[in-house]
Amino acid sequence: MQLFVCESKEDIGEKVAALLIRQVQTKPNSVLGFATGRSPLETYDALAAAYARGVVSFKDVVTFNLDEYCGLTKTDANSYYAFMQKNLFSRADFRTENIHFLDGCAADDKAVCEAYRAEMQAAGGIDIQLLGIGTNGHIGFNEPSDAFTDGPFLVTLSQSTKNANGKYFADGSMPTHALTMGVGDILRAKKLIMIATGESKAKAIAAMVNGPVTPQCPASVLQTHRDVTVFLDAESAALLEGGIS
Ligand code: GLP
Repeated sequence: MQLFVCESKEDIGEKVAALLIRQVQTKPNSVLGFATGRSPLETYDALAAAYARGVVSFKDVVTFNLDEYCGLTKTDANSYYAFMQKNLFSRADFRTENIHFLDGCAADDKAVCEAYRAEMQAAGGIDIQLLGIGTNGHIGFNEPSDAFTDGPFLVTLSQSTKNANGKYFADGSMPTHALTMGVGDILRAKKLIMIATGESKAKAIAAMVNGPVTPQCPASVLQTHRDVTVFLDAESAALLEGGIS
């Protein structure tokens, strides 16, 4: 696992975008796994800016997002689909037919999850998967649990996640469930890039890096992947044992 402590969120955004842009320049039909939340916003700004400058095109890029809330339509402002449209897809030349999302409104969640798994496989697997981390160590919506999962699945959101994400929803309207890629799906990506900033992530980052590999801290499984790059700021890196090189 390679760890970098950066000066600012903008600095992280530029560095992560540079890695993604290099990937797409090398392989225009790259398969990119995207994440939502606050953490990747500066990366998406930097990608949109690079597209506007003519540095990169995403027209042949295939995308898979990590997760989606259940019960929110694509047009709901709080859906992760709407988040991606607003913050990235509509700001560059991504093609709708290349964008893959778990459908949190489908009646048959098992069928949706199985189809998503098949689509990831048919695309040849994910080249780079972007990740954030929950304050409880979750990745995607893989909450702390007794076992690591494989394959997309329906998850009941933990109280910790409801507390962290509830601020985006009007009182009581935060969904209780979501569909998410499983830990196994995330580990199959050829490269993983994680972004974490702020004091609220410090405990989870220390557990991910220095703690045991355990499903009680889902992000700790990243210790078993051979190509992981983590971008932190001083606050999120504050509890790491022995600092970082
Ligand atoms: C959310 C998402 C994750 C995200 C994480 C961190 O619940 N499901 O994919 O990485 O929590 O979010 P943020 O970047 O807003 O701190």
